[in-house]
Amino acid sequence: MKFFLDSANIAEVREAHALGVIAGVTTNPSLIAREKQDIKGVIREIASIVKGPVSAEVISARYEEMVPEARQLAQIADNVVIKVPITLDGLKTVSALAAEGIKTNVTLIFSANQALLAARAGASFVSPFVGRLDDISEDGIKLIKDVTDIFAIHDINTEVIAASVRHPLHVTQAALAGSHIATVPYKVLVSLLNHPLTDAGIARFLEDWKKANM
Ligand code: E4P
Repeated sequence: MKFFLDSANIAEVREAHALGVIAGVTTNPSLIAREKQDIKGVIREIASIVKGPVSAEVISARYEEMVPEARQLAQIADNVVIKVPITLDGLKTVSALAAEGIKTNVTLIFSANQALLAARAGASFVSPFVGRLDDISEDGIKLIKDVTDIFAIHDINTEVIAASVRHPLHVTQAALAGSHIATVPYKVLVSLLNHPLTDAGIARFLEDWKKANM
């Protein structure tokens, strides 16, 4: 399983990139709004730092407006992927963009059927939202497993991004469920490093070293 960073914050993108573990970045309108900057500028800068796919989401709801908006976003950099919500207009947009060779990441996926439709329309990525399903007492990881199983059974190349990842256990479970990618907030990415025995081990090594070298 690969890691994407789920952030529109340039400082976080630079820090995560320096760790050498992120293969791409996902953003959404809420994350961009938090930065109080123009979307094109933010996406341009992220796409220059991280060479892998950088998802930028359309705001328009109608097909007629989604397609030109997506084309403009796709022009920002070669590695920009267009995030499109799973609606009728979204599906038509995915199909039109695929015909033009523009990659898409279909977002707000909450069922296996939505994921299958998105894949058949030509999506490069689908993003099932794990945490938001858990929030309403459904099983987000089960959805990841169902979608990856269906794609494997039917030889579908669309990659599954486990999204709405809230904590380290989601990451392990998404990897075990066969997710191709997990997109994680910076805080979660860094928390994957934490283990109390690692901290205790470092402290003890340092103590022993100091004693022997007094
Ligand atoms: C990623 O593509 C999504 O935009 C993101 O993971 C949503 O996460 P949230 O449910 O924590 O807002």
